[in-house]
Amino acid sequence: MLNSLPASSRPRPPLAPASRASRTSSARRRLPCRSCRRLRPSCDSYWIMASILQTLTTPLASGPAEPPWNKVSVVGVGQVGMACAVSILLRELCDELALVDVIEDRLKGEQMDLLHGSVFIKTPKILADKDYAVTANSRLVVVTAGVRQQEGESRLNLVQRNVNVFKHIIPQIVKYSPNCIILVVSNPVDVLTYVTWKLSGLPKHRVIGSGTNLDTARFRYLMGEKLGVHSSSFDGWVLGEHGDSSVPVWSGTSVAGVNLQKLNPDIGRDNDKEDWKAVHKDVVDSAYTVIKLKGFTNWAIGFSVANLVESMMKNLGRVHPVSTMVQGMYGISDEVFLSLPCVLNSGGVNSIINMTLADDETDRLRKSASTLWAIQKDLKDL
Ligand SMILES: NC(=O)c1ccc[n+]([C@@H]2O[C@H](COP(=O)([O-])OP(=O)(O)OC[C@H]3O[C@@H](n4cnc5c(N)ncnc54)[C@H](O)[C@@H]3O)[C@@H](O)[C@H]2O)c1
Repeated sequence: MLNSLPASSRPRPPLAPASRASRTSSARRRLPCRSCRRLRPSCDSYWIMASILQTLTTPLASGPAEPPWNKVSVVGVGQVGMACAVSILLRELCDELALVDVIEDRLKGEQMDLLHGSVFIKTPKILADKDYAVTANSRLVVVTAGVRQQEGESRLNLVQRNVNVFKHIIPQIVKYSPNCIILVVSNPVDVLTYVTWKLSGLPKHRVIGSGTNLDTARFRYLMGEKLGVHSSSFDGWVLGEHGDSSVPVWSGTSVAGVNLQKLNPDIGRDNDKEDWKAVHKDVVDSAYTVIKLKGFTNWAIGFSVANLVESMMKNLGRVHPVSTMVQGMYGISDEVFLSLPCVLNSGGVNSIINMTLADDETDRLRKSASTLWAIQKDLKDL
C-alpha cells in the first residue's frame, strides 16, 4: 500500500535529534564514501550512498573505521595459498583476510570469487593487492609464495632462488605488521623458515614453519586406517625435517594410552615382522603420489595450516609438530629449524615439549640438522 505512493509523498520515519542534525548539508558533506572510506564528494558513489544511508540508517558512531582485531594475510595465492585461505575462512578464524601475490589478475579474480560468496561466510573484509600495505595490522601472515624446482636444478639453487624471493617478501610483511607471527609453508619449509627468521629480525617464537604438521596428519590417517580407528584417536608424531627425511617417533605411538611399542618392541624397525615401517614410507611417498595424480597437493596442507592458525588466533595452547629453532636441543649445535612438538598460543611458539626419544630417533634428528646446516651455511645475502 505504502509502496504504491510516490516516494516524495511517503511518510518518513521519525528522526532522533542527532539524526536531524546529520541531515544538514554540512553533515552530509562529512559523510565518508562507503567504498573508499574517504571524504570524497567527487567519488561516484558519494551522493547516492549519502542519500540512501540517510534514509536507511541513523548514524551513531563517527570517525575512521576500527582497525581489524584478528587479521590474517596469505602471501601467494596459488594452489596452496588458496586452500589455506578458504580453510581459514570456513573456520571463521579472522575478521579480515588479505591476499598478496605478484600476479594481479589471479589475485583480483580470487578476491572477487571469494567476495561473491560473502553471504555464506563470516569474514566481512577480504582484501587483495600486490602492495603489502594491504596486509597492515595482521596478527598472522601465512607465506606460501615461492618458485618451483626446475628440471635438473639442484636443491641449493632452488633454495637460493627462493631466498631471493623471500628477500622481497619478508621485509614488506614486517614493515606493515611488526608484531605479527609468520607461518612459512613454502618449500623447502625448514630452510625457508630459517631464512624468514634471519630476514625478519623477529624473535624465534614468532617465526614458525608448517614443518611436519602435514606429515604427522598423513601418518595419523594411515595408522588409523590400519588400526581401524579414526585418525584423531591414534596418537603418533612425525618430527624433524619435512619430507623425505622426516622421523616417525615409533616409541611414542599409542591408542587410548596403550603404547604400541610395548605391544611390539620392534615396531618401525627393519626386523619388524609386521613391517609397520612401511606406513612411514607411505607418508613420504604420498606427496609424490598426489602430485603425480593431480599435479600438486593443496587440500590437506590447507586444512593443516588452518588448524595451526586456529591454535594461535584463539590462544588455544595446543601442541603441534611445527618447525622451530632447535639449537641446543637433542645435542644440535647449529642454527636450524626442525619440527618438534610445540605449544602454540597467541604469541606463537610458547614452549617446546621435551619428548623422550629413542637413540636412533635422536640420531636421525641430528643428521637432518647437519644436512640442513650444510645448505644454509652457503646461502648468500642473509
Ligand atoms: N609445507 C608443506 O607441507 C607444503 C605442502 C604443499 C606445498 N608446499 C609448498 O607451498 C608452495 C606453494 O605451492 P603451490 O602449489 O601453491 O604453488 P603455486 O605455483 O600454485 O603458487 C605459488 C604462488 O606464489 C606466487 N609468487 C611467486 N613469487 C611471489 C612473490 N615474490 N610474491 C608474492 N607471490 C609470489 C605465484 O604467483 C603463485 O601464485 C611451494 O613451495 C610448495 O612446495 C608446502
